[in-house]
Amino acid sequence: MIPFNKPPIIGTELSYMQEAMQSGKLCSDGHFTQRCEEWMEKHFQCPKVLLTPSCTASLEMAAILLDIKPGDEVIMPSFTFVSTANAFVLRGATIVFMDIRPDTMNMDETKIEAAITAKTCAIVPVHYAGVACEMGTIMALAKKHHLYVVEDAAQGVMSTYNGKALGTIGHIGCYSFHETKNYSCGGEGGSILINEPSFIERAEIVREKGTDRSQFFRGQVDKYTWRDIGSNYLMSDLQAAYLWAQLEQANKINQRRLALWKKYYQAA
Ligand SMILES: Cc1ncc(COP(=O)(O)O)c(C=O)c1O
Repeated sequence: MIPFNKPPIIGTELSYMQEAMQSGKLCSDGHFTQRCEEWMEKHFQCPKVLLTPSCTASLEMAAILLDIKPGDEVIMPSFTFVSTANAFVLRGATIVFMDIRPDTMNMDETKIEAAITAKTCAIVPVHYAGVACEMGTIMALAKKHHLYVVEDAAQGVMSTYNGKALGTIGHIGCYSFHETKNYSCGGEGGSILINEPSFIERAEIVREKGTDRSQFFRGQVDKYTWRDIGSNYLMSDLQAAYLWAQLEQANKINQRRLALWKKYYQAA
């Protein structure tokens, strides 16, 4: 039996998790969370990366950050995972589904402009199987019509478009570290990439149940209070420790995955 997916295991996951346990700080934003976020910011050239419990959670955060409200329209491909649509439907948006291109299985960028109305707020391209959407066309359309772009890059970690990491081209990007993805953090996990700097402060608040707790931990406020809507969009440091083991060896995991794909492709 050939399994659908086997999550990669590097070998250092347990020792890093033990280190996290011994640090006495297992909740969010510990040592390993910081390492993973800084690694991604540097490696993917992103102003701010925050670890989240899943790509679903990242997409929900994105919908809150864009202030999506009932009546707003959001354009996305019909061929995607449920979370892409759910995140925006939860805020009351109407989803406008686009057909996909048969060659890339990604949204057909030539059909987007005809779908834009006065109610359109955002375009959500999905980089299916890590194959990049036509981001040049999509970003130009977004600029022309004053729309936001949220990249669902759940499957696109370590993939690029014209040399830029997927997830760093739109205003916000969302990654998944679910066990079916190339890099995982012990089952479920994700991150949000904030490419538009004006969203950074609010993203930290939304992720911390609507409080300025992140600022409190940095000593910027003397106590933390409720400031906005939000939820618990934090990842435990124990999971970040697992993820760190994988990010540290991201190239190795990528190369092995590619070699396995080549084997199947040549045998087919
Ligand atoms: C395109 C896409 N978006 C979102 C998700 C949701 O990711 P997660 O399971 O991390 O919430 C997935 C997961 O398979 C996905 O493939």
